Amino acid sequence: MADVQTKNMAESYPVNGGNGPNSYAQNSCYQKEVVDGAKGMITKAIAEKFDIGNPLLDCPNLIRIADFGCSTGPNTFISVQNIIEAIELKHKSTQQNSKTLEFHVFFNDLTSNDFNTLFMSLPPSREYFAAGVPGSFHGRVFPKATLHIAHSSNSLHWLSKIPEEVLDRNSLAWSGKKVHYTGNEKVLEAYSAQFKNDMKTFLSARALEIVSGGVILFFVGGCEDGFLASQTCSSMQFGLLASCLVEMAELGMISEEKVESFNVPIYLTSPKELKEVIETNAEFSIERMENFVPYKNPEMPDCQMLSTHLRVVIEGLISEHFGTEIVEGLFERYTKKMEENYFVFDMKYRQEFVIFVCLKRK
Ligand SMILES: C[S@@+](CC[C@H](N)C(=O)[O-])C[C@H]1O[C@@H](n2cnc3c(N)ncnc32)[C@H](O)[C@@H]1O
Repeated sequence: MADVQTKNMAESYPVNGGNGPNSYAQNSCYQKEVVDGAKGMITKAIAEKFDIGNPLLDCPNLIRIADFGCSTGPNTFISVQNIIEAIELKHKSTQQNSKTLEFHVFFNDLTSNDFNTLFMSLPPSREYFAAGVPGSFHGRVFPKATLHIAHSSNSLHWLSKIPEEVLDRNSLAWSGKKVHYTGNEKVLEAYSAQFKNDMKTFLSARALEIVSGGVILFFVGGCEDGFLASQTCSSMQFGLLASCLVEMAELGMISEEKVESFNVPIYLTSPKELKEVIETNAEFSIERMENFVPYKNPEMPDCQMLSTHLRVVIEGLISEHFGTEIVEGLFERYTKKMEENYFVFDMKYRQEFVIFVCLKRK
């Protein structure tokens, strides 16, 4: 079972860089729906929970903001702009508006992220100083007590690794020829445990980096407590991806072993689970937590578009595991497979939503 997926895979295989037709930059409109839907929540949370005048914040006029899991843009620029506008709005409405604020924005992602594309796409009219911060957000990436606002959208559902038991033939949680927790509760439990562990390390690192009184605003994919997570539309789509890989193995294009040792490191938490894991960290108070559905959820989704959206996120993983030569054929097959299995888009399976969380560093 020794396999490339048991190492810290997220470090090695980022989303597709550049600005080409199969880049994240050109194919992230679903994620943009989250970022757009988040604006009002960010404004309100900053107005109510971020006290610029608090001396503990130690920010006479410089506010440091970090976006964790920024990717290549453009969504990160929208998030950052929303945060800055919210702070300025709050600043104007308070008594301390005699001082001019300056903003230092840190864009964090894995070292393998295409930071060149990110830097070249920085908005020319931005009113902040920008810096890239490479490294996994599951560890420390900033000095102690230096950040005032931490943000993350569409990133924390990405596991740091596939749990070992999922790749172990002798384990009840072995996923076999499935690539996700589709229809297997033991696999789901293993993913859940990994997610909780990852969330804990994320929060422990941020607890050291964020100043007292500073806030984290994050947006992560979720589904209802108690709902059979493996029967969500997104997990069923991974079921279809697995069946494409199985077909390709039957045709001798890839080996069965390769299919059995491949899994997608994406997990949708639930509000209850997320709250429990946050509460294990005594350094933060939960100031706000709410679910929302930013997705337009068209009745007839565009399968080609969905396929490309998945491709730009996991192409690196697929190429590394199976070889680049299968990518084109796999995603063509996957598009067709979704078109033939439209039932997965039935509204009863579309249980996914986004969980917004605002935490304050005590
Ligand atoms: C789907 S993109 C989201 C980008 C952007 N925040 C948005 O909303 O469009 C997820 C990003 O999270 C990054 N990511 C995943 N795991 C990470 C980790 N452990 N540390 C830092 N970044 C990570 C990926 O490299 C990817 O760029």
